Amino acid sequence: MVSAKPGKTIAKAASGSDAGSWSDAEFRWDDALAELAGASTDVLNLGAVCADRQVALGQGEHVALRWLGRQSERRDVTYHQLSDQSGRVARVLADLGLQPGETVAVLMGRVPELYSAALGIWKAGGIYCPLFAAFGPGPIKARLELGGARILITTDELYARKVAMSRPGLSRLQHVLVVGESFADGCGDFRALVNACLPLSPVATKPDAPAFLHFTSGTTGTPKGVLHPHRAVLAHLVTGRKVFGLSASDVFWCTADPGWVTSTAYGLIAPLVCGATLIADEAELEPRRWYGILHDEKVTAWYTTPTAIRTMMRYGAALARSYRENTLRVAASVGEPLNAEAVLWGQKALGVPFLDTWWQTETGAITIANAPGEGSRSGSMGRPLPGVEAVIMRCEGGTPNRIDAVDGVGELAIRTCWPSMFSGALGEEPRYGECFRDGWYFTGDLVRRDADGFFWFVGRADDMIKCGALQIGPFEVEACLMDHPAVAEIGVVGKPDMLVREVPVAFVSLNPGFEAGDALRAELLSYARQELGAGMAPREIHFVEELPKTNSGKIMRRVLKAKAVGEPEGGDILVSLPPCPGRYDDE
Ligand code: WT7
Repeated sequence: MVSAKPGKTIAKAASGSDAGSWSDAEFRWDDALAELAGASTDVLNLGAVCADRQVALGQGEHVALRWLGRQSERRDVTYHQLSDQSGRVARVLADLGLQPGETVAVLMGRVPELYSAALGIWKAGGIYCPLFAAFGPGPIKARLELGGARILITTDELYARKVAMSRPGLSRLQHVLVVGESFADGCGDFRALVNACLPLSPVATKPDAPAFLHFTSGTTGTPKGVLHPHRAVLAHLVTGRKVFGLSASDVFWCTADPGWVTSTAYGLIAPLVCGATLIADEAELEPRRWYGILHDEKVTAWYTTPTAIRTMMRYGAALARSYRENTLRVAASVGEPLNAEAVLWGQKALGVPFLDTWWQTETGAITIANAPGEGSRSGSMGRPLPGVEAVIMRCEGGTPNRIDAVDGVGELAIRTCWPSMFSGALGEEPRYGECFRDGWYFTGDLVRRDADGFFWFVGRADDMIKCGALQIGPFEVEACLMDHPAVAEIGVVGKPDMLVREVPVAFVSLNPGFEAGDALRAELLSYARQELGAGMAPREIHFVEELPKTNSGKIMRRVLKAKAVGEPEGGDILVSLPPCPGRYDDE
């Protein structure tokens, strides 16, 4: 798709505009289905297409997964081995009585077993539900309950720190399989069980059978479980090729945390279904290590986040340039807006621009993107992929109207149904239907489109806090702190941050008998960290006499946001538009 160095044909992408086009009149999702499913298009199993299919295509000895451990360990897993191991995991799960359509929760960092577990769950017909290891015991317990998981696969260390204390209250959770050395009461040895059995043939799942479940922040106190079908893999195949140009000759590295849908879609499914080698790095963001991996592992396609890019920028271009002799063909970013400066920095420091891509948990795969050879515009989200129809809608008098004017702002809406469209919203079922109207899915993002059809991000239509990779629902943070006896009322909002875009900060009014001050502030902060995990906990706590409210008693987040940044109250912080089709609480 794109020629490799030298010459890097995508260099022009960084120079501003290139009005190439995604449009592909021949494009049909059904062709992708026929390619993956063959003649029997009523059977599609994600586990089978990610591993067994590659073996059948003669790729069995090709490296599917290269795992890099924290202590410089290195392990290669071939497609054949992945197929075999995931088949065994499927057998273990079936032997535990897993029924097709049942959820299996997975709480693990990037360890080799994560990958065979996911594929094994799919082969057994189960729903793969990864959880963020950074969460504290509270959010993990809530997600295990909501997902109705009877089986959890985790590590000994994470079990001890995050689950053991909640286990007595988790009545549905019957089996915990642990990867590691020490096995607490009521836990099975994952590796021993997998080694002791024979592979199970993949269950003949229908394309629309549920396959993965990610929790994202909902608009209520409970997280929302976003469900996707096996069919979603069609979008991962197509975007893997169209955005990243993936094939068997690629080494693809996606840095996302396993709890995030980005990791399921691009840290796992897309590279495998395209037959590439995926890099799984156990360690966290550390620029020197990252440059080393890009260089030593000969990474050809890289998918990361603006937070990571900004961190690398902080380390300076000189360090980056010492790694300029790399094999990168394409680098892309997702999760928040990527400013033009960061796009160009990629070009300068690494020899390829960072291409911004847009999607969300609900869309299941990249929906709008800049891409090599297809046109890109620095600072924009890009243009809709083939097979995706995206428009801008605005509510006037409660009815959504399409905005076709150049630079008109409104809510981004996508025509149903693309293959990776979410098929359910656990915990917010009534609201699932409210996201759709007249054959359009409303994304909750405010955008504008320029004359060449590039979309530009304007803001969220709701109150979600975008903190690096995490999308934090203020409601879940509020619900947790409300459990502290001192807290009478609380409002949590995002405060702009240079590195991670936004951090959660809390405004708290106190119950009688509690005194505002540093001691209580420290106690509340530590309580929140303990319960929610450091990523989700507020970074600041401000005591207020009373929270600003509307007549109908809703907290006025706009006023709190103004306070958080020290602006006059009611300052015009966000573009404020009536969201369509009225699924967000108004102020
Ligand atoms: C929200 C989705 C990111 C994919 C994985 C799931 C914001 C995402 C961009 C971008 C500006 C972006 C949107 C979106 N977002 N990509 N390129 N530019 N904003 O992510 O946790 O469901 O978050 O992230 O607001 O709705 P998520």
